[in-house]
Amino acid sequence: MHTNKLEYTDEVAQATAPIYAKLDKQYKQDHWQALAPYIYEINRLKAEKNAVILAHNYMTPDIFYGVGDIVGDSLKLAQEAAKTKAQVIVQCGVHFMAETSKILCPEKTVLIPDMKAGCSLSESITGEDVRKLKAQYPGVPIVTYVNTSADVKAESDVCCTSSNALKIVEKLGAEGHKRVMMTPDMYLAQNVANELKKKGSDIEVLFWEGSCMVHERFTKTDIDRFRKQHGENLVILAHPECPPEILEEADYAGSTAQMNDYIVEKQPPRAMLLTECSMSGNIASNNPNVELIGTCQLCPHMQRITLPKILKSLQTMGEEVIIDPAIAERARHPIERMLDLSQ
Ligand code: 13P
Ligand code: SF4
Repeated sequence: MHTNKLEYTDEVAQATAPIYAKLDKQYKQDHWQALAPYIYEINRLKAEKNAVILAHNYMTPDIFYGVGDIVGDSLKLAQEAAKTKAQVIVQCGVHFMAETSKILCPEKTVLIPDMKAGCSLSESITGEDVRKLKAQYPGVPIVTYVNTSADVKAESDVCCTSSNALKIVEKLGAEGHKRVMMTPDMYLAQNVANELKKKGSDIEVLFWEGSCMVHERFTKTDIDRFRKQHGENLVILAHPECPPEILEEADYAGSTAQMNDYIVEKQPPRAMLLTECSMSGNIASNNPNVELIGTCQLCPHMQRITLPKILKSLQTMGEEVIIDPAIAERARHPIERMLDLSQ
């Protein structure tokens, strides 16, 4: 007989043992005994409610390995949302990700465990700002990072993520565009512009001056200190939301999924990811031969998502993400165009 009590019973211990086998270096037994009943109950409710959990790479390991059905970067989560057969999507990530799922699956119920999980990039620009940009730069395609509201996407020509931004801009170049406007992350835009220059392209990249409150904090002085502290063989990976001087100093730059793939493939003895710190824990669990050195930089928005809130979400079917259908319809085009172009 199932009971709703959140206790660490033999049944819970047995059902969650394979997950704990991956996470025993990160959670002491007494901490795990507090988390496991949530994981058990969330997984039971998911099946009962025909729900799927999409978990971003920045979710903490208990969520990422314990309850995530599909895990990955923003691009993968959008691609998988478009394909899922489940009736309910619980988005473990931030609000723009839940909106992207709702835009791609208007007939499904999309829940986010904490409606306040925002994003500094998303907050840096409005639909009205994009309308003004279009008036200022007629004919220049607006390439909008997925880290934006539906309203902003609705005014844009094509979306991008950090894993496909360069490819999308190059495809616009191949269509004959000499200039593009990238919104809202100025560092992603400058990093794309630098890559284009290295490849001999003459596409001009204009940009909006938004930034990520987590990635903008890294400095060249930090990198020098990290290398001094952890040895010359330290491999440093950076997310393209970091300033260009950081990418110049790093050994590799890529989206959260691309950084993960790099570690899995190259197995460097010691690595540091200049990005949200929870991801280092997730990668460490899967790569026992790589010493992952954390940066301690956490995204306060991503950190709002916790197991108790996910459980509440499934119990109450809240908080539901609702978008004005007219805006959602217009916002779908740039997302779908991105998904097509990134094939
Ligand atoms: P990714 O697309 O690389 O997962 O990045 C999303 C994000 O918000 C990074 O801060
Ligand atoms: Fe937004 Fe930065 Fe947090 Fe990513 S890490 S969700 S870009 S604030």
